[in-house]
Amino acid sequence: MSKKRTTPTASPTETAPASALLDWYDAHARDLPWRILPAAARKGAKPDPYRIWLSEIMLQQTNVTTVRPYYEKFLTLFPTVQALAAAPDEQVMAAWAGLGYYSRARNLVKCARAVVANFEGRFPDTEEQLLSLPGIGPYTAAAIAAIAFNQPAAPVDGNIERVLSRLYNLQTPMPALKAEVKQANAKLVPKDRPGDFAQAMMDLGASLCTPKRPNCLICPWRAPCLARQAGIEESLPIRAPKKPKPERQGTVFWLENAKGHVLMARRPDKGLLGGMLVFPSLGWDAPNESRLPELLPPDCKDMWTPLEGEVVHVFTHFKLTLSIVAQTAPKGFRAPTGFQWVAPKAFAQEALPSVMTKIWKTVLLK
Ligand code: ADE
Repeated sequence: MSKKRTTPTASPTETAPASALLDWYDAHARDLPWRILPAAARKGAKPDPYRIWLSEIMLQQTNVTTVRPYYEKFLTLFPTVQALAAAPDEQVMAAWAGLGYYSRARNLVKCARAVVANFEGRFPDTEEQLLSLPGIGPYTAAAIAAIAFNQPAAPVDGNIERVLSRLYNLQTPMPALKAEVKQANAKLVPKDRPGDFAQAMMDLGASLCTPKRPNCLICPWRAPCLARQAGIEESLPIRAPKKPKPERQGTVFWLENAKGHVLMARRPDKGLLGGMLVFPSLGWDAPNESRLPELLPPDCKDMWTPLEGEVVHVFTHFKLTLSIVAQTAPKGFRAPTGFQWVAPKAFAQEALPSVMTKIWKTVLLK
């Protein structure tokens, strides 16, 4: 009787050993300013939790290329968590300007102060305690626990979600996919090098397992990757159809005094563009500074001249189109409480949010 040969069926956990990815990482890890490369780690170098935390907060919603110069500037200005905790809010906001999502910068200072006040200036090393700190959510807590403290934590960011959805051919659309990926990831994390493993998946996602045209030919997980075997790697992960962003419209008031200085207001700390300097505007939000028309003498009401050019800015939750109107302030008009005159030559140095930079450039450079 001849024995029928059967193809052995192994689970991806067995066929995709973490060691294949770690071997690849040992040879190809990106040299990033906050990273301890495997060769240095073998010689005893240890990651600095402050640097890992700072990089992870900065990398939320952005990429390595954008973050690099900000990361280096922050380390020069605030080399330790104590230095950051002691810095005035405005200095931190100014150093962050241009990186977007400003609530991250406000939480950054709060977190540094909490670490100094409650943890004697040392970041806690468990996911649970990290989660209790301002600005640290589940992903960041897991990333810091793994990378800074080598805890067996399994962070899942966009890159890791893509890599694992392909490895296991997970066809659940996002965002529900994340829960499945987390489970799969937790089983895969190697006990001895969880930090390197997380970073290896991030690197794989950034360099080979890219959203479009992944380079499967040289991928360390080429053999076990179930999506590649099925020939559908490029169509994973599956996204739920995007809802169009709601649109909002508003008017910006460009008020100049006799010196050519322009009236600006400081936003309240909480909410959109919190704590930032903005040009007064109306119609798209309900900020304090929208009161400007009421604060001017009544005969100024009809003196606004529309300027050419609109400013379009896309926030996370809506798209904003702003038209701009201008006038010269009446003689003797002083900046009301909460407002200040700003010289145009200071615009480039001020910590202005991107939408405000677009406004002054539209008025002054067009
Ligand atoms: N993206 C988020 N965290 C990262 C890290 N530590 N290294 C590379 N890319 C990342």
